[in-house]
Amino acid sequence: MNSTLLKRLSALAVVAFVAMGPLALFVGSAQAAYKATPYQTSRKNAGTPNSDVVKTDANGVVIQYGNSAITYSSPSPSLAKLGQALYLQNCASCHGNEANGIPANGTSGAFPNLVGLGPATIDFWIESGRMPAANPRSIQALRRYPRLSHDQALAVTAWVNSLSPSYPGIPSPNLAIANVSDGAALFALNCAACHTIEGDGDALASGTYAPSLRHVPAFQVAEAIRTGPGNMPRFTGNLSDYQVNDIVKFVTTQIQHPTNIGGFGLGGLGPVAEGFVGLALGVGLLALIGFWVGERH
Ligand code: HEC
Ligand code: HEC
Repeated sequence: MNSTLLKRLSALAVVAFVAMGPLALFVGSAQAAYKATPYQTSRKNAGTPNSDVVKTDANGVVIQYGNSAITYSSPSPSLAKLGQALYLQNCASCHGNEANGIPANGTSGAFPNLVGLGPATIDFWIESGRMPAANPRSIQALRRYPRLSHDQALAVTAWVNSLSPSYPGIPSPNLAIANVSDGAALFALNCAACHTIEGDGDALASGTYAPSLRHVPAFQVAEAIRTGPGNMPRFTGNLSDYQVNDIVKFVTTQIQHPTNIGGFGLGGLGPVAEGFVGLALGVGLLALIGFWVGERH
């Protein structure tokens, strides 16, 4: 190895080493936007009908409850007749004519009992396209383009709920009053472990996974938080409606429409992967410059 080449290489190594830090920082800096600061609040939980506003129908059944952050409602019982017809066409073959999980020629245990699950659960599974199930044997039902329209989902929900009225109702978050930075902190604490801080989702145990949150509408994010579909935990007393509202705002703004302060987003791969891209590109470029300068000694 001649001494010129050796000099060039060692100069290059110094330049590359000095450049690494700032480069990795620059590319990874979008991460710094989400800091997991502890969040304390005295706001009361209102995920149950014991809330500020409770409306009942003529029979004393609760049809709406909530507060300024989230209003929960049950679809009108007048939709139940239509809902039953849609249910018999789309759901009964698996969940049974009585929605009790016992199909006409089957035994119990193969399919979930839907009675008493509450409107938010029934509505979530239909409106997220999971139901009617494409493949009842799959480990986890997939989010798909919904087979039933929004109004049809409400009708089926109205009928199933009429069998045994229950909670939570279908949430309408009031994003106008939500605090997105509190939402970011709460998301980091409660959701990021499974869904990742960028909301892209990740694999869990035994072939299950936490899905991406990029295309989930606000009311469905609130439904998922309050009902805990599949392997997701249900967040009830531990998150107030104000906190849920803050999380929903964070998911539907920062996660679904990220602003990449600090350079290129690189698809939000995370600091290690982004740092690697920074190194490979940056050091590669520096090497070329180094060789070019070296040629001109
Ligand atoms: C082909 C069979 C099949 C059909 C048709 C079907 N389901 Fe399901 N359903 C399932 C299976 C299997 C599961 C469990 C899936 C899972 O846990 O991922 C399930 C789960 C559910 C759940 C979640 C239950 C719980 O305890 O969390 C709801 C709610 C539901 N179905 C509602 C419906 C509705 C409403 C329809 C009609 C629009 C319907 N399903 C049609 C098979 C079916
Ligand atoms: C222990 C892991 C875990 C945690 C913690 C968790 N989730 Fe989930 N989440 C899941 C899984 C698993 C599913 C898919 C359930 C299914 O389809 O069977 C899911 C589904 C969802 C969905 C529905 C997405 C779709 O494709 O329809 C939303 C929205 C969601 N989670 C939001 C949240 C939010 C917000 C938090 C924090 C408050 C959270 N999750 C916390 C595991 C988790």
